[in-house]
Amino acid sequence: MKKQIENREDISLLVNTFYTKIRANTEIGFYFNDMIKDWDEHLDKLIDFWETNIFGGKKYKGNPIEAHNKVDAYFNHKISSHEFGIWLNIWFETLDELFEGEHVDTLKRRARKMSTFLYLSMFENRPKG
Ligand code: HEM
Repeated sequence: MKKQIENREDISLLVNTFYTKIRANTEIGFYFNDMIKDWDEHLDKLIDFWETNIFGGKKYKGNPIEAHNKVDAYFNHKISSHEFGIWLNIWFETLDELFEGEHVDTLKRRARKMSTFLYLSMFENRPKG
């Protein structure tokens, strides 16, 4: 039987498994592999992000909107809803593979919502013309 998401160790397993798949993905892996230089730092930050999201607290202090506007500029504003779709599919797949329960649904819902915000913000921040 799969387990529930109960603590930071579970979030760590989720985030590590997710990024292993992301990095190996032929369509979107290079975005991450090219831009992220310090993987330990990135994974720690993302574990903080999702831990704070589910269990509260103040560990994550960042600005995902700003970070992704930079990512979009770095890749010449080529990121589309297609890439976000792949990201979300891998997120859902990893959650279902490892865990079950209420937090799984919450993490799917929150990621879907956030990806919409991130993408709209990227789009709005693109140079007009
Ligand atoms: C195709 C879609 C996506 C791409 C290509 C992407 C790429 C990246 C990259 C390259 C970074 C590192 C930025 C840096 O080092 O400055 C990053 C950071 C981050 N990403 Fe994404 N991302 C995507 C979607 C998402 C989604 C859907 C979420 C959440 C639901 C998310 C959450 C985050 C967070 C929390 C950070 C850390 C921001 C910070 O505090 O610096 N990303 N992303």
